[in-house]
Amino acid sequence: MDCLQIRGGKALAGEVRISGAKNSALPILASALLCKNPLRISNLPDVADVKTLAKLLEHLGSEIQWTSSNEITICSERIIHTKAIYDIVRKMRASILVLGPLLARFGKCEVSLPGGCAIGARPVDLHIKAMEKMGAKISISGGYIVASAPDGLKGGDIIFDKITVTGTENVLMAAALAKGVTKIVNAAKEPEVIQLCEILQNAGIEIAGVGSNELIVRGSEGELLDFKAISVIPDRIEAGTYLCAGAITNSAISLLNVLPAHLEAVSNKLCEIGFGIETQPNAITITPAKKRKAFEMITTEYPGFPTDLQAQFMALATQCEGSSSIEERLFENRFMHVSELQRLGANITLRGNVAKITGGEELIGADVMATDLRASSALVLAGLVASGQTQIHRIYHLDRGYERLEEKLSGLGAHIQRAKEQ
Ligand code: UD1
Repeated sequence: MDCLQIRGGKALAGEVRISGAKNSALPILASALLCKNPLRISNLPDVADVKTLAKLLEHLGSEIQWTSSNEITICSERIIHTKAIYDIVRKMRASILVLGPLLARFGKCEVSLPGGCAIGARPVDLHIKAMEKMGAKISISGGYIVASAPDGLKGGDIIFDKITVTGTENVLMAAALAKGVTKIVNAAKEPEVIQLCEILQNAGIEIAGVGSNELIVRGSEGELLDFKAISVIPDRIEAGTYLCAGAITNSAISLLNVLPAHLEAVSNKLCEIGFGIETQPNAITITPAKKRKAFEMITTEYPGFPTDLQAQFMALATQCEGSSSIEERLFENRFMHVSELQRLGANITLRGNVAKITGGEELIGADVMATDLRASSALVLAGLVASGQTQIHRIYHLDRGYERLEEKLSGLGAHIQRAKEQ
């Protein structure tokens, strides 16, 4: 197993190129199941989660050709299985994204329940209820969601009790092949959902309300779709993490290949703390703050502040003057990083879903454990300013979602290296 070793205290400088969005790449890969032609996808991030979904598609029978580590062609003409097996699904919850497309295309499928997750219960009940509303019969057997719709899925009104990103994406893909019109009320508005809508629209599916919380989709009645080549949008969470790297070291750095409009909540928060933010059409520069002020932040659905950047901003709060408050509204247990940040000397108290961080304590390098993807990146950020060496274990979590993290940070001047666990 690998670990990361960081020597803190180095200022950063220069430019970093942001990769394609993992959370857009995953539904796009799943949507290849709806496609009658070979589908070319570029700007894919070279991360473990993408490889896991590609492996799942291959297992189902898709033919996959990697033209580079960031570009793939998928042909899903001859699918031979409709069972998404536990051995692959357990590695990544987002495997649930094949439920909608498989059911819509074949009228049956089995998808392993994703099981436990470090950041809370994260059930898939909303996905299941939505498929039932579209005419599927669903039972749980042997740890699998067993779904059938012998006469195909039918459009219906799906009213989500809670906004769910992958739930909305699953319904969109199912609705694209269903009979009739599907209305999705309380839909997610994340840029990744919008990209999926646009891809389906480019394949001839009528979708009204794109970018709003009500989507209306007219299905193709089972006819497979003809997709155009796709380039994955830039990863706003990876971008936000590098902005935090600039912020925590109080350095000027520039991010290339980003869409600043997707990062407004994040940029606004950084300005409020005291940093300068300059944007160009595909780039953002962060410049140092004279004084880093404490802040208050609440995670909510897009366009609010993303939960996937909560941990990174907590690391940043340790370097701000005064007491910051961070409220996590989406996942009840997304504070696994708190005890690890405390090991580095951070002054954090937790009450329910609110963390209070008193800044100004010096962080001191230590051995810490990565617990989930974004919690791990918060430890990397803290390591950039902790004195001495920080060693981060179990970094396979980071490899799920960050492409060449240590190479990109080294390019900015950080002292970071990957090593084998002793
Ligand atoms: C997606 C993102 C993840 C991000 C999250 C919230 C992907 C691949 N992952 O995850 O990085 O942190 O959105 O922005 O895009 N819920 C239920 N029942 C369900 C589904 C969800 O109760 O059937 C709850 C969840 O526990 C959570 C809330 O709804 O409290 C939102 O979760 P959701 O948007 O579904 O997260 P994901 O789509 O899994």
